[in-house]
Amino acid sequence: MSLTHFLQCLAFVFLVTASPIQDDSQTVLIQSKDNNNINRGVGWFDPRVNGGRFLDFTTKRYGEPLNVIISGLSDPYILTDTGLHAYAKSLGYSEECLGLHYGDLHEADLGDGDGKKTEHFLARQHYFPVWGTCWESLAGGQHFRSWKQNGTKANSGAWFIGASKELDSSKHHTIVPDGYNLGRDWLVDRAVEGGRWKGMWWKADVEYRTDLLEEGRKGVNHHIAQDGRVAILTVKRL
Ligand SMILES: *[C@@H]1O[C@H](CO)[C@@H](O)[C@H](O)[C@H]1NC(C)=O
Repeated sequence: MSLTHFLQCLAFVFLVTASPIQDDSQTVLIQSKDNNNINRGVGWFDPRVNGGRFLDFTTKRYGEPLNVIISGLSDPYILTDTGLHAYAKSLGYSEECLGLHYGDLHEADLGDGDGKKTEHFLARQHYFPVWGTCWESLAGGQHFRSWKQNGTKANSGAWFIGASKELDSSKHHTIVPDGYNLGRDWLVDRAVEGGRWKGMWWKADVEYRTDLLEEGRKGVNHHIAQDGRVAILTVKRL
């Protein structure tokens, strides 16, 4: 065997053994059984592929469902912080009671490489949505928390939202019975109907997924059961 031949063989062996490893790291996101969710074309990545989940981390043991996704294929403006703020107002959320409720920050793991991260709006404290004693009269106790899927491993730009309906603050912000489903439906109904804020109009298409979040109350904060449906919104600017 000539030296050249030997080196060629060596190179071949190296390539054969090395390339699958390389492939693995590059295609981690593509190798899930659930290919649809990972397709960049749908505007969001399934958090579970990279160790995330569709319950936030309210406490160590319990979480609240991330029951709405605003896909990264939505109007680019509402994918920004100020845009989501405006969009939320167009839906009927209000920030009149700003500042009265920013005590309990939740974390979520969106499987985007950031690990658990604190909700984005409340992390800034001046942003929405923070509700206090006045919220019942304003929006019937509706609120949501949101996290942006923008870590380097899954940078879809989508908002992952935990929507719920709460009792008033005198009841310590407890979720009402069926409050997760109600909170999601309230948001989605308005999004699909369409609305406006300061001259901007939006309307959303919705698709429901039942294979992302387990139905029931297991691991769910306040032991309130939810139906496991996640609404995927694609919000268009009109
Ligand atoms: C991800 O999005 C949040 C919310 O908009 C923002 O605060 C944060 O800076 C973004 N992170 C990166 C790395 O762009």
